[in-house]
Amino acid sequence: MSLANKYRPQTFDTIIGQNHITEILKAQMSTHKQMHHNFLLFGPRGTGKTTAARILAKALNCLNLQDGNPCNTCANCQMINEGKTLDYVEIDAASHTGVENIREEILDKAAYPPASLKKKIYVIDEVHMLSKWAFNALLKTIEEPRDNVCFILATTDIQKVPETIISRCQVFNFKKVDKNEMSKHLKSIVAQEELIATDEAIDLIAKISEWCVRDAVKYIDQVSVLGNIDEAHITKFLGVASETLIKDFLGLIQGGDAKIIFEKVDEIHNQGIDLNNFAKQTLMHIDEIFLEDIQFSTQISETFTDIIGNIRYYPYPAIVYKVAIHKHIQRNTK
Ligand SMILES: Nc1ncnc2c1ncn2[C@@H]1O[C@H](COP(=O)(O)OP(=O)(O)OP(=O)(O)O)[C@@H](O)[C@H]1O
Ligand SMILES: [Mg+2]
Ligand SMILES: [Zn+2]
Repeated sequence: MSLANKYRPQTFDTIIGQNHITEILKAQMSTHKQMHHNFLLFGPRGTGKTTAARILAKALNCLNLQDGNPCNTCANCQMINEGKTLDYVEIDAASHTGVENIREEILDKAAYPPASLKKKIYVIDEVHMLSKWAFNALLKTIEEPRDNVCFILATTDIQKVPETIISRCQVFNFKKVDKNEMSKHLKSIVAQEELIATDEAIDLIAKISEWCVRDAVKYIDQVSVLGNIDEAHITKFLGVASETLIKDFLGLIQGGDAKIIFEKVDEIHNQGIDLNNFAKQTLMHIDEIFLEDIQFSTQISETFTDIIGNIRYYPYPAIVYKVAIHKHIQRNTK
């Protein structure tokens, strides 16, 4: 089992970075106040939408709620966890079978009351992929809410969901997970797995995963195959530069010696570091240190923005670096 699956949260309390959502849901589950029948969860990939949908499905059915969290041990929670009930249906709208299921499940079956659970739950993942026809069918169904049927819709692309559907759901906006919370989460997984990791490596992974928890956990999984989780192994496995390398490289550019800089570019490239990613990482780093030297930060941001803009069009990415850095040096020695 992958670490991302192994550490998929099973309660609202263990979802990280989405307190603004989980607190509301927990309160609604325990008080039954302002309860809705339909929920729409949207936000960036890998931030916990599908995870929250499953937890919510359990909470709506749990026989022994724990402060709004599903208990995961009662008969209903277990049936959902083990996929043993027909009252819990998960449909992936992005797949062909998803479309077929929607026809069958929504039009034909949603009208029947649940057989074993308190509430029949439909989780429709990637709901933005539904056809116009399927959206209409869904709309018809949710227009006549029934107490014992709930729809939980999840999507990364809310723009593609019709307003008529959105307006009939309680909508939750998942956020990118903040770097500190991510680092804390990764450290706890590392400890539970008895892996060894440096703080720098954890921070680097938190950063390059760009707030996507699934990717961050996946990187821990992949890099740990090489042994300890350190910056060298991250570079080797993921083709990502360490913070130290980025700082050194910027230092060299500030020094202004073209020959030394160009040799470094080749060295970075030969290490298997993806130069497109390297440029993005460097920009992120500059953003963090911007105030330390505003003039240099401004100029070098322009140079790296240039690199990112051009790199796709050249078969040899190192050249793009050299041309842009050469211009940078010329501008600054005039
Ligand atoms: N907020 C979170 N807290 C803890 N773990 C998380 C969180 N978000 C994602 N994960 C981890 O990432 C994995 C995938 O999460 P999930 O499937 O819920 O993401 P998603 O938002 O539905 O992504 P997608 O948009 O790609 O479908 C989980 O199994 C879990 O390990
Ligand atoms: Mg999902
Ligand atoms: Zn339960």
